Amino acid sequence: MRAVLCKAYGPPESLVLEEIDDPVAGPGQIVVDVKACAINYPDVLMIQDLYQFKPPLPFSPGGEIAGVVSAVGDGVDGFAVGEEVFSGVGSGGLREKVAIKAASAIPVPRGLSLPQAAGVLNAYGTSWHALKDRADLQPDETLVVLGAAGGVGLAAVELGAMMGATVIAAASTDKKLAVCLEHGASLTINYETEDLKQRMRDLTDGRGADVVYDPVGGPYAEPALRSTAWEGRFLVIGFTAGIPKLPLNLPLLKACSVVGVFYGAWAAREPERNRRNLEELVEFIEAGKIQPYVSTTYPLERAADAIQELADRRAEGKVVVVMDGG
Ligand SMILES: NC(=O)c1ccc[n+]([C@@H]2O[C@H](COP(=O)([O-])OP(=O)(O)OC[C@H]3O[C@@H](n4cnc5c(N)ncnc54)[C@H](OP(=O)(O)O)[C@@H]3O)[C@@H](O)[C@H]2O)c1
Repeated sequence: MRAVLCKAYGPPESLVLEEIDDPVAGPGQIVVDVKACAINYPDVLMIQDLYQFKPPLPFSPGGEIAGVVSAVGDGVDGFAVGEEVFSGVGSGGLREKVAIKAASAIPVPRGLSLPQAAGVLNAYGTSWHALKDRADLQPDETLVVLGAAGGVGLAAVELGAMMGATVIAAASTDKKLAVCLEHGASLTINYETEDLKQRMRDLTDGRGADVVYDPVGGPYAEPALRSTAWEGRFLVIGFTAGIPKLPLNLPLLKACSVVGVFYGAWAAREPERNRRNLEELVEFIEAGKIQPYVSTTYPLERAADAIQELADRRAEGKVVVVMDGG
């Protein structure tokens, strides 16, 4: 099979495409013929050795996949050859076949394409956990999403709107904000051309946002925290623009909470609650309440270009690498 390999840390162009042996389904495993592998920002970091999770070299980037079961190992119940599944793999997804724990595979919901399914877990799993479990977002509240057109950001926009909140999307271009308006945002802030702190206040009648969802960090976090409401919740999701330092007087003055969100670690610690969350997401998808948005697809031989799109801050919704039949 063909695999995209990171053999030495570096930028996306240093990735290579090689033939390697097919995997075999061990006990409790299934082999999935990968039809789609979604790209996430951690892929940008992992291939440069800048991410907390460090698979040994050589490895394939690509943290989540969707495809068709092609082999079933001993002791596996509930999956048959030919079934469509999606799964989080951490890394190793950018190859034509993967062997995964059967317990980590989820049947593809009705009405979802394989490229859409590949991008569900990281974006929606994170945002659902963040908004529901960590922020307890209420229907009459205002949610500001930074980096709102990105993978986790757009999922937060959609889920926030579905929960009944007023969603204010904040992003760096009007084109990205137009995508957010199509996916549930009712108001927008272009934080490259507008003052983020002031605009958040203007759009909330001076109260500030009840919940801020921040996958961006950098210079955007502090102005957003300064316009967080009394008893608001500021969700720390990620740092694509850098890891900021925040003045601790701000949470005191606003009686607000700065809330860390670490979806992967929570899912490992709370597998039952995560399973219920994922069942809920499948229900939302099947009921048409959320519609995962794939903006761009690339063939396997152009996987580096897919990762480069996220590195260049160009991605909208999900960028997905598709293989034959995907
Ligand atoms: N805490 C958790 O459990 C968890 C789970 C999943 C992901 N994450 C984190 O969430 C973040 C977003 O991941 P993602 O896969 O959604 O990424 P993505 O699709 O690339 O979106 C990231 C967004 O960050 C913004 N951004 C600001 N400065 C940037 C820069 N210098 N380079 C690239 N993007 C920049 C961009 O929006 P604008 O151009 O509009 O600013 C972009 O849309 C990452 O830090 C990731 O590690 C955290």
